[in-house]
Amino acid sequence: MRAPGWDERALQNALEVASPQAAGIRDLWWVFFWMAVAVWALVAVFTVLALARRRRRPQYSEGPVVDAGPEPALVRVTAAAGIATALTLLGLLVASSSTGSALARAPAADAVKIRVTGQRWWWLVEYPGAPASQTVTTANEVHVPVGRDVSIELDSRDVIHSLWVPELQGKRDLIPGHPSELHFVATRPGTYRGQCAEFCGLQHAHMGLLVIAEPAERFEAWLSAQRAPAPVITPDASSELQRGQQLFLRGSCPLCHGVRGTPASGLVAPDLTHVASRAMLAAATLPNTPEHLGDWLRDPQRIKLGTLMPPQPLSAQDEKDLMAYLMSLK
Ligand code: CUA
Repeated sequence: MRAPGWDERALQNALEVASPQAAGIRDLWWVFFWMAVAVWALVAVFTVLALARRRRRPQYSEGPVVDAGPEPALVRVTAAAGIATALTLLGLLVASSSTGSALARAPAADAVKIRVTGQRWWWLVEYPGAPASQTVTTANEVHVPVGRDVSIELDSRDVIHSLWVPELQGKRDLIPGHPSELHFVATRPGTYRGQCAEFCGLQHAHMGLLVIAEPAERFEAWLSAQRAPAPVITPDASSELQRGQQLFLRGSCPLCHGVRGTPASGLVAPDLTHVASRAMLAAATLPNTPEHLGDWLRDPQRIKLGTLMPPQPLSAQDEKDLMAYLMSLK
């Protein structure tokens, strides 16, 4: 679904790279591409030559067929083709394994550490902090500083997912109970769309995320804003906000969602402490606007059939207040 307000810049393109790791993969892709083009062209040329040669020969010869064994020229050509094929495959193997070992190089010790956990069908994103209360928890949006190593630890809560951000790195599977690691350095600022690349159920196609690469100061500012608890709704706040927060806390929302700084501490659904700061909703399915948030609250199953979020039957006034509260969680 391409919703209005969708950022065209966030389309995926593995050939428009933004990291040395993705550049290695892109170069390897071109090596394979041109090799395949050369092989195809050679096969096509020799096929045409063989057909032309056959046409010049008499169609049938009279008399008994005498088997004189293979022609010496044919033996030489077949041997040469076999050797060329083996050398080509060897060359591709060397190119592929040298790219693989370059990608496997360990990140720098001061790399930004991020934990991403695949869920049904969204991405839990954590920036571990010490003490644990300093850990930043968010969803479906990864911010990284430009020019610094980023190391992402991957795990899954349910089935096998796979994280793929084509501009930044190759795919890496998220296997329950077997953490893996993905690292890259973003070399230019931008918003890069990632995608689950392993079929994981009904809404596999709606399991996206955004990676936002930004200058170091902006990244640090974002991280400290995310670390802060939700803004406190004081008794002087608008009645809309106060009612909205009460609806949120007294309804079923806190059973699944957490909002730090309030009693809501659910852990099974995306953390909403700073939900209004995120660009997209429902794992990069909808732009985060009041209209889309309203649609999502009313009937998530219509947008993402099978999602664990149940529909919320709310009166128009309740919906307005709840939305005002959620949109205040910047
Ligand atoms: Cu997660 Cu496909």
